[in-house]
Amino acid sequence: MSVGSDIPRVDGLDKLRGSTTYIDDLVIPGVLHGGTIRGPIARGKIRRIHFDPAINWNEFVVVDHRDIPGPNEIAMIENDWRALAAGDVRHKHEPIVLIAHRSIRKLREALRAVRVEIEPRPAVFNPRGALTPELIQHGDDNVFKRIDIHKGDPAAVFKQAPHVVEGEYHTGSQEHLYLETQGMLAYRQDGRLVVRGSMQCPYFVVNALTHLFQKTADEVRVIQSPTGGAFGGKEDYPSLLAVHAALLAEKAGAPVKIIYDRREDMAASTKRHPGYVRHRTAVDNDGRLMAMEIDVVLDAGAYVTLSPVVLSRGCIHAAGPYYCENVHIHGEARLTNSPPYGAFRGFGAPQTQFAVERHMDVIAERLGIQPAELRRRNLLRDGQTTATGQVFRDGTDLVGILDRALELTAYDEKRKQHAAHNRAHPYLRRGVGLACFFHGAGFTGSGETDLASEVWVDGLPDGRIEVLTAQTEMGQGAATILAQIVADRLGLDMSQVSVATPDTARVPNSGPTVASRTSMVIGKLLQQASDDLVSRINPTGSTTGKAVRDAIRAWHVANPGKKLRGRAKYHQPPTINWDEEQYRGDAYAAYAWATHAAEVEVDLRTYVTRVTDYVALQEVGKVINPTLATGQIQGGVAQGIGWALSEEVVLEDGVMANSQMSNYAIPVAGDLPPIRVYFEEQPTPYGPRGAKGIGELPMDGPAPAVINAVCAALGTSINAIPLTPERLMEHLEGDDDG
Ligand code: MOS
Repeated sequence: MSVGSDIPRVDGLDKLRGSTTYIDDLVIPGVLHGGTIRGPIARGKIRRIHFDPAINWNEFVVVDHRDIPGPNEIAMIENDWRALAAGDVRHKHEPIVLIAHRSIRKLREALRAVRVEIEPRPAVFNPRGALTPELIQHGDDNVFKRIDIHKGDPAAVFKQAPHVVEGEYHTGSQEHLYLETQGMLAYRQDGRLVVRGSMQCPYFVVNALTHLFQKTADEVRVIQSPTGGAFGGKEDYPSLLAVHAALLAEKAGAPVKIIYDRREDMAASTKRHPGYVRHRTAVDNDGRLMAMEIDVVLDAGAYVTLSPVVLSRGCIHAAGPYYCENVHIHGEARLTNSPPYGAFRGFGAPQTQFAVERHMDVIAERLGIQPAELRRRNLLRDGQTTATGQVFRDGTDLVGILDRALELTAYDEKRKQHAAHNRAHPYLRRGVGLACFFHGAGFTGSGETDLASEVWVDGLPDGRIEVLTAQTEMGQGAATILAQIVADRLGLDMSQVSVATPDTARVPNSGPTVASRTSMVIGKLLQQASDDLVSRINPTGSTTGKAVRDAIRAWHVANPGKKLRGRAKYHQPPTINWDEEQYRGDAYAAYAWATHAAEVEVDLRTYVTRVTDYVALQEVGKVINPTLATGQIQGGVAQGIGWALSEEVVLEDGVMANSQMSNYAIPVAGDLPPIRVYFEEQPTPYGPRGAKGIGELPMDGPAPAVINAVCAALGTSINAIPLTPERLMEHLEGDDDG
């Protein structure tokens, strides 16, 4: 059976050989190259746009907001994100004019020959500053989304709590730094507007195109090209880029390609929301959580884009995987004059779980309880409820996971060794830190019901199977595991199952490839569609293996020229109940759970922190492909370590100033410890063979585990990331002074 085995990834060999054709590799006769003229400052009124007369502008296609046939809006949660600035700019680098030319060299020259004059207006860069004086959009203040989660009566408990522990935690932005930069190609074919490019969500792009061009879905076609990494960065932004390429192509009457270079990509595209989280916690003498008050603020940047749902996921995960009877979580997403912040692996949960996991260590320190023991006393047990009142009943033993992780880490032994080492060594300090965390799989609340995803499994005339979904392979292994799930269900060999390229002219709308939903939600639907296919070729019995192939062939002989298609559409299981008004109930159908432990060594001469060992133990339901799953965890841990220690988005005028790979430091192999990955498998009824979500989980735990380890090593409390050597130096020297 193919589920549970290490099937080599279906896209692996081409990528290894370098023969995969990314959008920039695609050779299109007569293609024009498009580029973007951007605003020079964060906020103001556009006075004039100077086109240098030394350039022959007749050779160029030039597009501004007046060329937009429909509303100047990128369709998203609120349609406030403008495709091109009109009259004013709300962030630096906001796109204002698009130009295209046959020659890349001439395009680059021309991009430098346009100057935009802007009358500045006061800009807001601090989301925690005054909320009213500089109103960026409609409403009473710059807060456009508020979320409240209420459970029990925290106020009453605080009055009589033996201990109240407070803390404030800040997480910085983060750049996705996918290997392949953003790129999109637009052209006309057979009377349709076609857009292909690097993306996670073909049907989001369809929505953006139909909205802005006032076309029907039949008049546009969106095709995903091989995508070299995304991490959420190709969830929202490709809608904007697709619209830009299409505007140029429609005006030019020729194909237009826009490929960002690294600098433009880093400076102008979406990033992780900076987060500010405050905790106030009532604890009894044994360290049991009596009440939690959590205040979450996300800097959303200049437009609403996806921030309401990022805030939602952040708030739902803010209390951690712990049981507490009295909880109030309040979240706000606020506009500033930074480029809009967007989707990034974890989607708000890394920000809030950094806070709660640091805070657990702060509580442990205050009460004189070991960090592991404090967590053991508070982890959710079956039958208890989460902050939204969801009854935890998936049978996972969270304490067992914690204890196994401690054992794999040799936690107690290491703590003793570190204490002895730190007393003796002149400048190296060692420590070990923990994080217990969780991640909900699929869209939040009733999101999956609203999406109503549909998938198809086709039986081809030669007896082979084609899987048709909108799910995109972006390096995470989706194409492989979806084929595995279908092969497994039909008892076929992997070689008999192919996965269709996400092309909206061919595949159904099975929703976006985001939110850790692909394995669980789409995988389950593919099982159902496989069953539906079987029922069409053999209505009376179950058919698997060679019999499936024979029956498909026979069906086609009997029904020449017809399509043999198994279908499935998502329906909310009756056991899942969510109240969107009250923010109560089953926020997610299933959660993945984890305990990670990091060991660090801090050099007090250089203030450099090195992670020397890392244990990642997680329960993700059934592991469909152990090698790919391990890769997901290792990649997420690497990304989390980078976020914790080195990836600093330096903001000037609200935009990333260090937009180069030479001064934005992601960890390379030499910076990383051995990442030891272990799984537990507690199958969920909502996923195929019990699989849950996996993609985002490993982003949630590494930062708090690493910073908890640094705090243990140094006997100090650090509550902001990234903890670069400079920041650590300032922190420690500040301590000396004070
Ligand atoms: Mo995502 S951050 O759900 O692509």
